[in-house]
Amino acid sequence: MSATLGISANYHDAAAALVVDGTLVAAMQEERFSRIKNDPSLPLSAARACLSLARLDAKDLTRVVFYENPYRKLERVLTMSLRTFPRSLSQFPRALASQLSGKLQVLDELSSRLGVPRDRVLHREHHESHAASAFFLSPFERAAVLTVDAVGEETTTALWLGEGRTLTALERIAFPHSLGLLYSALTAWCGFEVNEGEYKVMGLAAFGQPRFRDEFRKLITLASDGSFSLGLDFFDSHTNTEVGFSPKLEALLGPRRLPGKPWDLTSEADRRVADVACTLQTVLEEALLGLARRAKERTGADALCLAGGVGLNAVANARLARESGFRDFFVQPAAGDAGAALGAAILGALDSGDARPAPLERLSLGLPVSSDDARTIAKNLGLVVTPLSGPDDVAELLAKGEILAFAEGRFEFGPRALGNRSLLALPTPIAVKERLNRVIKRREPFRPFAPAVLEAEAPKFFEPFAERLAPFMVTVAGVKPEARPSLEAITHVDGTARVQTVKADSPFGAIIDAVGRRTGTPVVLNTSLNGKGDPIVGSVADAFAFFLGHSADALVVDDVLIRKP
Ligand SMILES: [Fe+2]
Repeated sequence: MSATLGISANYHDAAAALVVDGTLVAAMQEERFSRIKNDPSLPLSAARACLSLARLDAKDLTRVVFYENPYRKLERVLTMSLRTFPRSLSQFPRALASQLSGKLQVLDELSSRLGVPRDRVLHREHHESHAASAFFLSPFERAAVLTVDAVGEETTTALWLGEGRTLTALERIAFPHSLGLLYSALTAWCGFEVNEGEYKVMGLAAFGQPRFRDEFRKLITLASDGSFSLGLDFFDSHTNTEVGFSPKLEALLGPRRLPGKPWDLTSEADRRVADVACTLQTVLEEALLGLARRAKERTGADALCLAGGVGLNAVANARLARESGFRDFFVQPAAGDAGAALGAAILGALDSGDARPAPLERLSLGLPVSSDDARTIAKNLGLVVTPLSGPDDVAELLAKGEILAFAEGRFEFGPRALGNRSLLALPTPIAVKERLNRVIKRREPFRPFAPAVLEAEAPKFFEPFAERLAPFMVTVAGVKPEARPSLEAITHVDGTARVQTVKADSPFGAIIDAVGRRTGTPVVLNTSLNGKGDPIVGSVADAFAFFLGHSADALVVDDVLIRKP
């Protein structure tokens, strides 16, 4: 038997993934255990949970593979700090201290904390891990692979050729020229938190016009060979790590938006922010299309794979699917650094002689919930428990207009809830969206909610979309005009939706099907089960904590319904 644990940690969103004899058996983010959103700390709880699911002990592990090279990452931070000296003087001790406090010794620490012999703990390269997660989980025998993020060791963008069991690096773009850092810096300028607010910028972009093209030409130059370079005077990811931009950016685009200020998109100031977001999104899409054209030129491949944090941009993915010139396209849906743990595990497994894993079909790779636990907790809390006889019972409640907190089976890996830890509601009327936004999720009013639709019925409601991406909610589709009245709560201002397709023979699909039989529309609004600033629910206890703190109408855990008295 061969068992390989992949680990990503120390910068943001730590995770562990386990491959046993060529099968991806478990993958979890540390945040689901620590309850700290995007927790970067060593994912020991996640690692132990992966092992326990597979009934393995740490001593059974053939190898543990860390997702990047901790020595080269440190070298990059140090040399860049010295290059910007003395501007970076204030930042230097902090950067150094944070690097040295454990990050350099991460391989030793993994060995001692997990109890795995040190010679079984290895590392790969950051972008190699991203690339492996995308290509080896795709169905393709041969594909071009793009990895695009903020920065790994020093690479920010890379092009690979994947063939069978091998990945060959073809081209790289190095720090500080980075699409991820460009998007993050502008996310901060828009007043959102970096590494968290990027989705908000994408949602906001739909409200704007791309009228800052001239200004953005100073921020980024797109070359005809697909490469790009940033106008470095405007960015400052070393001396100003909080926001990543310099005062020159505010001179160019106007003062940054204050974080937390209520939004008013009828005001001049907020419309300007929406226009900047829209220009940014447009420029990002054009940069990605340039990279894809280059990828086609260099590889002649029919298929394209994508991973790295930029791959989470569902709007850009839809455009790549339409315009990149590739016949087929796969995005590894946990495209950020958590998902690099998948790639690290697979690279280690292939080195052990394992078969290449099967194409990714589901993300329910976490721990399961049990309705027995739910009954016990509900009883202790004095809540009312009713058994459910099947999907029709759940559909009946949704059809009545209830908003349900829903936990079923194993929790998902990655940033999206796909029906295992979700808040579910009907996709209409618009008031559902307002209630979810204000009461339950307490988030910005412009952020859209996503629809989950039965795969076979999707063409009735949505314009053609990238079918390979839709099961994982990493693309968008136009909502057909005639369907919009029945899909008011999930149609974004630009007429699109971040569509998720669901097979009818899955537990979630059975509920959507039953809703369709009642309402005529086999679509359910699906948003992640978490409060503002919290990670998505993992355990039954987390589900109860959410339910007690928020005003969902009921909680469903597998086959039991729980209500407040
Ligand atoms: Fe990354």
